[in-house]
Amino acid sequence: MQPAVKAFFDDATNTISYVVRDPQGSSCAIVDSVLDFDYASGRTDTRSADEVIAYVEAEGLKVEWILETHVHADHLSAAPYLQERLGGKIGIGENITIVQDTFGKVFNEGTEFQRDGSQFDALFTEGDTFMVGQMRGEVMHTPGHTPACLTYVIGDAAFVGDTLFMPDFGTARCDFPGGSSENLYNSVQRILALPEETRIFVGHDYLPTGRDEYKWETTVAEQKASNIHVGAGASKDDFVSMRDARDAKLAMPKLILPSLQVNMRAGQMPQPDDNGDVFLKVPVNKL
Ligand SMILES: [Fe+2]
Repeated sequence: MQPAVKAFFDDATNTISYVVRDPQGSSCAIVDSVLDFDYASGRTDTRSADEVIAYVEAEGLKVEWILETHVHADHLSAAPYLQERLGGKIGIGENITIVQDTFGKVFNEGTEFQRDGSQFDALFTEGDTFMVGQMRGEVMHTPGHTPACLTYVIGDAAFVGDTLFMPDFGTARCDFPGGSSENLYNSVQRILALPEETRIFVGHDYLPTGRDEYKWETTVAEQKASNIHVGAGASKDDFVSMRDARDAKLAMPKLILPSLQVNMRAGQMPQPDDNGDVFLKVPVNKL
């Protein structure tokens, strides 16, 4: 079964969002949406999400799921906005509770911030299945970049989030709290054990030197043959030392502080104050 996949690329955060559609009907799922956010002014914008909405409406699609591969640290999720406009259930990995616990502390959240994942409509675990029309989706727990990362396999398409990137860029960083390069290596081996012709849709593309257009679709066979970090049978030891050394030099993503506070709440802003105003925090010297 081959779902039709429409990709939306966000230049500001190098994120790819997907609409995955049942070719036999009108059901679809949205994977990893983006709410635009200008940190300097504190302003949100729905331009990216509106493009997805326009596509869904023009094609007459019915949104059944709004899926997150993980709590993104580089962009805000538009899941609640999409849900209000289009319907669908918001799903994420059950280890979101670990992420909520970690960042609940980092952001000194009060007791009104629930750390049980209840902000989401569905918490998935390894081996769970879900339906998008007649298409069956399967959940793989693929931790490493974060402890809650999932890969959604729908027909011959795998939405791997931030695990593997395009073969010439390699893999995702593993240095956020709860991340682990060893876990990422193990997760990647499981993704690479999917059938060779499986289409892999990545969560980001950063245009490595030597390439002049963004790409987001590859296959298991291509990744096995040529992924610069894990292809051609790279060993776990080599991967772990390469990944950890590289991560030690990476700066934090520009939007990590607002992204975590919003995304750990399933894309909702923190509760407004008595005047109805909403604030995000900047914890000093915490990350
Ligand atoms: Fe990420």
